[in-house]
Order: sequence, then structure tokens, then C-alpha cells
Amino acid sequence: MAVPDRAQTATRLLRSSAEHSYDPDVEIDWEAPLVAGRWFTPQHRSTLYGTDLWATLSEEQRITLTRHEVASIASLGVWFETILMQLLIREYYRADPTSAHAQYALTEIADECRHSVMFGRMIDKLDCPVYRVGAFDDALGRWIAATATGPRMYAAILIAEEILDALQREASTDETVQPLVRMVSRIHVIEEARHVRYAREELARQVRAAGTRRLAFDRLIIARAAYLTGRRIVNPEVYRSVGIDPRAGRRAALANPHHRETMRWAGERVVAYLRELDLIGGPGLSLWRRSLLL
Ligand SMILES: [Fe+2]
Ligand SMILES: [Fe+2]
Repeated sequence: MAVPDRAQTATRLLRSSAEHSYDPDVEIDWEAPLVAGRWFTPQHRSTLYGTDLWATLSEEQRITLTRHEVASIASLGVWFETILMQLLIREYYRADPTSAHAQYALTEIADECRHSVMFGRMIDKLDCPVYRVGAFDDALGRWIAATATGPRMYAAILIAEEILDALQREASTDETVQPLVRMVSRIHVIEEARHVRYAREELARQVRAAGTRRLAFDRLIIARAAYLTGRRIVNPEVYRSVGIDPRAGRRAALANPHHRETMRWAGERVVAYLRELDLIGGPGLSLWRRSLLL
């Protein structure tokens, strides 16, 4: 696989950032009321869509569930972006500040700063709790933020960015979805296209530079990141918003063929790319199988 030159890509991405960057404070009408009867994710993307539990919910409850589901995904987005910003700033610390590559890393951090503010405001506007990750993933996140470099760093970034991208791309054009969610999704999709490009190319370069032993360990960490993103995209606590026990809701979601298909569809592109780079396999394969992404 031919990988474009690092400086060339960074220069192009810097130009695109200058032309297409959005300030959510200006672009989004935060005062506008939510529209009654609109979904917060396309309804067929709800984790419980089509299940027996779904059949017991009224239309209003179903809409409430999608409201909490999108807040949960945005909460995971903030968590993930906060880790990403730390990774990029650590790389930047060691880099040459006159290089386009280093300057682009800093520009991406600026994008993520705006995104996290935007997601935070959206969760607040939706009047939902911030759905935080559990203790194990919290510790894992801190460890990754403090230490990750090379293939495992860029692969983990890519998995989260591409899955979110697939979901938001669809939501941004769906007329049944709340205008606020559509706008937030649209801004994020446009700016994340650059991030995906940067991470994809950098990952290919890093894989080429890494040794066999390094890659074997990284495959395992990448599998754990896939497992987390695929299985924890929605926090089971969301089910309380419609009177469903979180454990029962989670069980139903994991067994739900519609939800499983959603995750497989959302992961399709990144899985194909990671396979191309031979990053899926080894002892982490069982984590991948349970991630719902394969
Ligand atoms: Fe972002
Ligand atoms: Fe990003």
C-alpha cells in the first residue's frame, strides 16, 4: 500500500482546516427548542429497535430512549476526545513546531476542543446525564492517554472515529432526527474526515516502522479498544430513562440482530482497513469476535 508523504498530507489537511472549520457557538442555534416528535437517532439505530422490549414501549418512550442513547454516545465521544487530545499533545511536545505535521496535530486538537464543548452543550441541552465509562475502562483510558504511541494509538483512534462517523453521517441527513442532533453530527462529520485521513495514513506509516514483537502486543491492545467501542457505545444506564433494568436492556441489545447489524455496518470500513494492515488477529481475536464489529 502506497502511503503519501507525511508533510504533503499535513499541508493539505491544514489548508482544508482553514477552509472548513466550524464554530459550534456560532453555527448552532442553542436557544432553539427541541422539536416534538422527532427522534434523537434514526429509530432503527436504537439498541433496542425491533426487540420484545421495544414492543412494550410507547412512541414517546422510544423517542426518550434515543435521546439518552445519543447523549451516551456523545459522552463516550467526549471521553475519547479527551484521551486523543492528550495523545496528540504528547506527540507535539516531541515534534518540530515548524513542520506541517506537528502543526496539523495541534490543529486537530483545536478541532477536538470545539467538539468536546459542542458535545457537552448538547448533552446539557438534551437534559441527560453524562454517561461515564466504568472503572476498568476509566483506568484503561488513563493508561492509554499517558503511554500510547505508534500503531496501537492510531488504530484505537481510528476505530472510535470511523464508527462514530458512520452513525453521524447517517443521522445528519435523516429528516426524522432532531435538527440539533443533525447539525452537531454534520459539523462533526465534516471535521472528522480530516482526522480519519490523518490517522489512516499515520497508522500505515507506523505499522511499517514497527517490529514483529511490537505489532503482536499492539494487536491485543487494538482488539481491546475495538471491544470497548463496539460493546460500550451505549451505556446500559440509558435504559433506566424508560423504566428498563440496565442489565435486561443490555442483554436484549447484545442479542438484538438489528443492533448487531448496526455495529457491523458502522465498523465495516475500519475493519477492512485494519485487516489490510494485518492488525486483526492473534490472541485478541476473541475480543474482536465479541466486539460486534466483525
Ligand atoms: Fe471530534
Ligand atoms: Fe477526531
